[in-house]
Amino acid sequence: MDAKTSPGQKDAGRSIAGAVGSPIPHDSGHLHVSGEAIYTDDIPEPREMLHLAVGMSSRPHAKIRNIDLSAVREAPGVVDVISAEDIPGQNNCGPVIADDPIFAPGLVQYVGQSVFAVAAVTVDQARKAAKLAKIEYEDLEPILDPRDAVAKESFVLPSETIKRGDSKAALSAAGNRLKGSLNLGGQDQFYLEGQIATALPAEDGDLYIYSSTQHPGEVQHLAALAIGKQSKDVVVECRRMGGAFGGKESQPALIACIAGLMANKTGRACKLRLDRDDDMTMTGKRHDFVIDYDVGFDDTGRIEGIEFMFASRCGMSADLSGAINDRTMFHCDNAYYLENVTIVSHRCKTHTVSNTAFRGFGGPQGMFGIEYVLDEIARYLGKDPLEVRRRNFYGIGERDITQYQQKIKDNIIEEIVSAVEENADYQARRKDIQAFNDKNEFIKRGIALTPVKFGISFTATHLNQAGALVHIYTDGTVHVNHGGTEMGQGLFTKVAQVVAEELQIDIDRIKITASDTSKVPNASATAASAGSDLNGKAAQAAAATIKKRLIKFAAEHFHVRQSDIEFENNRVRIGKESISFDSLVQRAWFERISLSSTGFYRTPKINYDRTTFSGRPFFYYAYGAAVSEVIIDTLTGENRILRVDILHDCGESLNPAIDMGQIEGGFVQGAGWLTSEELWWNSEGELMTHAPSTYKIPTCSDLPVDFRATMLESASNREETIYRSKAVGEPPLMLALSVFHAIRDAVASVGDEQCRPQLDAPATPESVLRAVTALRAGERSS
Ligand code: MTE
Ligand code: MOS
Repeated sequence: MDAKTSPGQKDAGRSIAGAVGSPIPHDSGHLHVSGEAIYTDDIPEPREMLHLAVGMSSRPHAKIRNIDLSAVREAPGVVDVISAEDIPGQNNCGPVIADDPIFAPGLVQYVGQSVFAVAAVTVDQARKAAKLAKIEYEDLEPILDPRDAVAKESFVLPSETIKRGDSKAALSAAGNRLKGSLNLGGQDQFYLEGQIATALPAEDGDLYIYSSTQHPGEVQHLAALAIGKQSKDVVVECRRMGGAFGGKESQPALIACIAGLMANKTGRACKLRLDRDDDMTMTGKRHDFVIDYDVGFDDTGRIEGIEFMFASRCGMSADLSGAINDRTMFHCDNAYYLENVTIVSHRCKTHTVSNTAFRGFGGPQGMFGIEYVLDEIARYLGKDPLEVRRRNFYGIGERDITQYQQKIKDNIIEEIVSAVEENADYQARRKDIQAFNDKNEFIKRGIALTPVKFGISFTATHLNQAGALVHIYTDGTVHVNHGGTEMGQGLFTKVAQVVAEELQIDIDRIKITASDTSKVPNASATAASAGSDLNGKAAQAAAATIKKRLIKFAAEHFHVRQSDIEFENNRVRIGKESISFDSLVQRAWFERISLSSTGFYRTPKINYDRTTFSGRPFFYYAYGAAVSEVIIDTLTGENRILRVDILHDCGESLNPAIDMGQIEGGFVQGAGWLTSEELWWNSEGELMTHAPSTYKIPTCSDLPVDFRATMLESASNREETIYRSKAVGEPPLMLALSVFHAIRDAVASVGDEQCRPQLDAPATPESVLRAVTALRAGERSS
């Protein structure tokens, strides 16, 4: 254990294995790499299980005139078929408002919407049968992009505005002013394990569901409503997901409801596993945006007034779009103080799949907006973009209140930016790059440094709660359960470390168990990066309750003061004696002391009024900064990341090995979003990029040639979080904004000194080539 020690860790003697702060591997790492980890599809199949397939809409917006399912029913192996009229309960799987039908009830609103489901003996039979339906449509006019939706005022939720100061007056008084429009693409989560659920009928019409979900409680709730029952009648379990990235926050409900409805009707176990193409067609992704800005600034680049319009493609229903677009509005300041600002947010209803959570949850899109604007200002003034960014940073003790009235008390932006600027040798490399670009006509390099400030907590305050359940068995081993879910991010390992630390026992005595709605009820989705903050604290509370009982018991039993009892290194010191943890547990059991406890946590200090968009939505902020250097070929638009330097703030990391995985992985996923992953719909509203053949996620060969990620040292969270750590799941994704701006820097080198290329995201080779060609043709933005 050579990792830095956390404040919670005692420095006495040799510590336990897996203590808080130790870089131990993911608990399932050996199972992931050997293929032995059991995902939902690997659970041994019960007798006579049926396989399901979904019949999907082929039209973006149409009335269903007639459905003829007779050929589906007669196909080989088919056992049953269900559609909207077979739902005994509620035909809805929407998480917030009930606008998401499980099966289209006569009206389809996107290509890929589920219309019916078929159950057959094999997967192939089900999938083949699903294609035999004859559906007659009466086409209606579809709205297929956010601009069109804004023009037609087609929204899934009301538009919102955040306003501070007087942007109108500041804009007209400003010495310089720029206006522009940006197109920012969406992103498919591309989890390796696709959406899946297996539903087992239980006695009396109850259901037991295995679901690959970030939110077992919601799946339980919605599946119960679908079959016309209540939450108590359904149990949902999830040991792990093969990746989720927000794509399994609300989307698994549809899959589980369909499996549950069919299990309920047939009385047989039913499994629905989407193949990749169907998964990408049927389920929601990151929102793409159009962003308009109007900014006024002084000659140093300081913003005096700014107006933003964000319009996002929400698709056909609200899903989580309210909170996602709120987070966009809360993050379009990133690390910068916007004194006079008006932010308008439109939540566009389009006849495309309903978009949903994706790592960053709307935050990245807001941050993209402001970073682009600052880059524009710098190029217009002929200054280094870093200088302009710096000019606008939040201050300490002044210029420190966000547009939603939260005072920033933990600002380390300048500290982290100047450290990475120095480590990466930013200034010298900028000069080298300039010299390189002057000498090379077709190959150009570019560099950019961008910061990250990301608010931690669910903006819906009530979701910031968590529960846990800890049992100690008589042999001194421990069963840990909590409401969080494991999607590869290492949450279960971190929570086990917390319990090991609290009880001072080696981590291999702790069994990490599947998320299960019958053990911990009403848990929030594992999301907003708050998994370890919330569940770590809840599990710590549960362990501490049992520990208190053990201390009380030992004090009475051994006639010592409670303050003379200490747990350390698998033993318990009781006055002058020391006994093993196991033997204390055994004696306590013998004396009928309860060895099981729940634990609960609610995030303190947060409160926020959504009607005025003001208060303290976030407990604290996580920070980071990155310098990226890229090279582009101006004849083809191809680009590569040459070097990346990251400095990221994990507070006192609970597990530096796992956190480093999150930093590197998040960054690469962000780089994919901004460079190669392009979602493309045709004019009929069909997503044409629905497989890895056309949708390009980063591969090993796309990693930066030289990748240097480090964690900020001595970075104790100023708020009292679990062992003063900071959430790390989402924030590093936004470090990849530096890649986009490095590409823009390289593109700009083709034009004259103050040129401002129009580069749309993702900066695919086509997009880069378009920008370069426009510059070469002399079409500079004015
Ligand atoms: N890391 C892996 N390996 N797989 C994932 O699906 N999801 C991300 C992030 N890191 C994800 C991941 C998202 S979107 C979130 S919100 C957080 O993990 C959730 O987990 P946490 O709150 O425990 O960090
Ligand atoms: Mo993460 S997008 O909050 O699931």
